[in-house]
Amino acid sequence: MPRSSVGRPVRVLVTGASRGIGRDTAKLLAHRGADLAIHANEHVPAAETLARELVKEGHHAFVVRGDLGKSAEVDLLAKSVERRWDSLDVLIQNAGTYPRVAFPEMSDEELRRCLEVNLLGPIRLTRRLLGSLQRSPSPRIIFVSSILAFTGSTRGAHYAAAKAGLVGFARSLARELAPHVTVNVVAPGAVDTEILSGDTPERRAARVARIPLRRIGTPLEVAHAIAFLASPDASYVTGATLHVNGGLLLE
Ligand SMILES: NC(=O)c1ccc[n+]([C@@H]2O[C@H](COP(=O)([O-])OP(=O)(O)OC[C@H]3O[C@@H](n4cnc5c(N)ncnc54)[C@H](OP(=O)(O)O)[C@@H]3O)[C@@H](O)[C@H]2O)c1
Repeated sequence: MPRSSVGRPVRVLVTGASRGIGRDTAKLLAHRGADLAIHANEHVPAAETLARELVKEGHHAFVVRGDLGKSAEVDLLAKSVERRWDSLDVLIQNAGTYPRVAFPEMSDEELRRCLEVNLLGPIRLTRRLLGSLQRSPSPRIIFVSSILAFTGSTRGAHYAAAKAGLVGFARSLARELAPHVTVNVVAPGAVDTEILSGDTPERRAARVARIPLRRIGTPLEVAHAIAFLASPDASYVTGATLHVNGGLLLE
């Protein structure tokens, strides 16, 4: 990633970078020359290991913590970023959970928690860091939604609703924050991370059979799409959703 117009490395916060898509995104962007704020919630030691690896390789990286489902922790997370940096160039809202429960059995607490983590947390974090972003010469916000925002999810209606909410939110901000800030969405299909670890071999085979490219995606393939939207190559892209799903959803 080239240097920003202020002549310093681009500053990027990746939420949910302890593992999976977020981890590969943080690594990719650091390798392209960005400075990284690596966010984790429960797996802080994994995030610290990643930060140490990147620093050892000569990159700049530090760890920030916070449960996106708790507004006070979102505030502390934003404060940790602001303490290090007077401005933020790229906010990558990747953290998320995919809880499964049939809708008729969904408790109010399950519904609330899913919407807090996957929708309200990212919205609050955006609002909280908007000042820092607006001090950047070329700010970018990227949300990681899901194919399920478009197809719906059996036993994941609350998750699909939250991820669809992110798309509406991103499109709204793309209008409201233009022309200074660009706001985009990446919508992954099935990607090989913890989120799919509950799959039986049969379920995985059935999943693969439905994908035109005949395989599950890798976290790095999603990271490349995110990195494109974070790069100067995407300077005329805003309010867009980039689908990364091996052809599983063809509109
Ligand atoms: N994998 C897929 O097939 C797939 C498909 C479509 C969309 N997505 C979306 O892609 C994003 C990344 O998913 P992934 O597959 O890489 O998942 P993952 O490997 O399970 O990683 C999830 C990340 O989110 C963080 N996180 C979870 N709950 C959090 C909370 N309450 N507060 C703050 N951070 C929290 C985790 O942090 P800790 O580990 O520190 O707790 C972790 O870093 C998610 O938004 C997911 O919905 C994934």
